[in-house]
Amino acid sequence: MSGAGISTAAGIPDFRSPGSGLYDNLQQYKLPYPEAIFELEFFKESPEPFFKLAKELYPGTFKPTMSHYFIRLLYEKGLLLRHYTQNIDTLERVAGIPGEKLVEAHGTFHEAHCLHCRKAYSQQWIKKEIFDDKVPSCVKDSCSGIVKPDIVFFGENLPDKFSACLSKDMKRCDLLIIMGTSLTVQPFASIPDHVPDTTPRLLINREKSGQRFSFFSGKGLDFDSPKNYRDVAWLGSCDDGCLALADLLGWKDELEQLMVKEHKMIDEKSGGKPHQKDAVKV
Ligand code: OAD
Repeated sequence: MSGAGISTAAGIPDFRSPGSGLYDNLQQYKLPYPEAIFELEFFKESPEPFFKLAKELYPGTFKPTMSHYFIRLLYEKGLLLRHYTQNIDTLERVAGIPGEKLVEAHGTFHEAHCLHCRKAYSQQWIKKEIFDDKVPSCVKDSCSGIVKPDIVFFGENLPDKFSACLSKDMKRCDLLIIMGTSLTVQPFASIPDHVPDTTPRLLINREKSGQRFSFFSGKGLDFDSPKNYRDVAWLGSCDDGCLALADLLGWKDELEQLMVKEHKMIDEKSGGKPHQKDAVKV
């Protein structure tokens, strides 16, 4: 399972890292508080800030990182039961992980719907509206509701696939790898509570996260108490952590070569134009 930290090396900011995270850099949008940009009620009143930001962060501009290709290798080797991601940058798909192996828990930009009449719109349609600096609005007669990409805002339910897969997958999970997330947003942050008590849980992140451990509830990750028997925190960059793990598995060269090959293909597809932006300034 992953969060924004697996994509920062691609140039996409995470949300909560002090200084560089998105929530510390939204002053230009004059929001009442940073999270408002992803809140449904605020969006209905003031959709412009979200669409400005969506243009800046639009999927298709960035290349997957070593961490994404590590997940792809897990898949190719038949070891990936499922990858649960909070990210909406679609870099898992770009890295070649098939849709059926993914739970995009906070939605995707693949489709969009009118908030009023629920009419569906294609990604191509909404992308054009966003890049033309418009607030996309429904074209159905007498509707004109705002059309919003199907990414999950605060105040919205997660896609049905999240709970459907969670109930099937978690009892079968024999190693949970958690990468690049502060584990602050529910219900995603509680996924680690759903695996069996015998399942080891490995966090690869810049800092320890998810430590809501209470002896009474048994919930949350527990790296530091004497009772810990299965939680491990590897602190550092996700890419370095994946490379170190790949090395232990004897896959380091394969992982590095996969990334070089795939990035070359992405560059060729984009006609030699530089594909990867410098880090986004929002
Ligand atoms: P956060 O920004 O909350 O957390 C990112 C975590 O990754 C932090 O612990 C960072 O220290 C760590 N990190 C950043 N770059 C890293 C790197 N290169 N290597 C290792 N660790 C790194 O992002 P998320 O946990 O993904 O939801 O945030 C969860 C949700 O909050 C998002 O999906 C979004 C947001 O509000 C919605 O908008 C609904």
